[in-house]
Amino acid sequence: MSQSPRIFVTRVLPEAGVAALRASGIAFVQRESDRPISRDEMLAAVPGISGLISMLTDRVDASVMDAAGRSLSVIGNMAVGLDNIDLGAAAARGITVVNTPGVLTDATADLAMALLLGVSRRIVEGDRLVREGHFAGWGPLLLVGGDVDGKRLGIVGAGRIGSAVARRARAFGMEVVYCSHHDHPEMGPRLELDELLSSSDYVSLHCPLTPETRHLLDARRLALLKPTAYLVNTARGPVVDEEALADVLREGRIAGAALDVFEKEPAVHPALLGLSNVLLAPHLGSAEQGTRDRMARMVVSGVLASIGVSP
Ligand code: DGY
Repeated sequence: MSQSPRIFVTRVLPEAGVAALRASGIAFVQRESDRPISRDEMLAAVPGISGLISMLTDRVDASVMDAAGRSLSVIGNMAVGLDNIDLGAAAARGITVVNTPGVLTDATADLAMALLLGVSRRIVEGDRLVREGHFAGWGPLLLVGGDVDGKRLGIVGAGRIGSAVARRARAFGMEVVYCSHHDHPEMGPRLELDELLSSSDYVSLHCPLTPETRHLLDARRLALLKPTAYLVNTARGPVVDEEALADVLREGRIAGAALDVFEKEPAVHPALLGLSNVLLAPHLGSAEQGTRDRMARMVVSGVLASIGVSP
């Protein structure tokens, strides 16, 4: 006898998503925690579910899908990135995977610009100095940073977020170049990655994490950056070799970096923690209320539509 559909949500969703689930009348269990779910808890929670609503902090691999069993028909990831889901395993089992593209573009592009300006204008260093009681008044040499007007921004990845960053950067007077598999003439000149790295004053990463982009910025490529360059990463941590990045930052071979994502998130490479020329943020790209509401509603409606329940 077939059971009625049931959804498991791995973390507390913004209320907009919970309200959409309630309104649909579907049976659902939302794990009442804002901490990432452990593997054992996930394996124990999924048997018999029809839909899984996961977060980018959840590893959803073949063993999770097999633990859920044949009832699992859809996985909804509340993120645009899908690198935490084994898409091949899902396809092999006929499981649909949905995500939340489009609705977090502006929030993530805004954060990339905030980080770019934050690291070049040394805002966090300034905040620390004030709080620690070391502000002795304006000084001609105090926390002097880099400017953006007329500077070249190299954007790696010309999808929605990369394009939105390009628009913002142009409003700040920046010259935009980009690197992508495809032509996007509206973004500016398209360069090979090595040329983009060696000629840009700022580099902002906006590519998905795939086997091809893991450690895309390795020691060799980081060495191409100018000593005055800043690197911004709001994409995925493993796109950059964090150890190699810490080396170039420590040795002053680039001016600075601003990271919203980390290679072994939530862990941060200890070598980065002691450096003042790196700004560290806790994966805040989409952390804006309206954006999170839209992400929650979108993932819920994608899952419900796939199961055949009206939202
Ligand atoms: C995503 O959706 O992939 C973002 O990293 C969330 O902030």
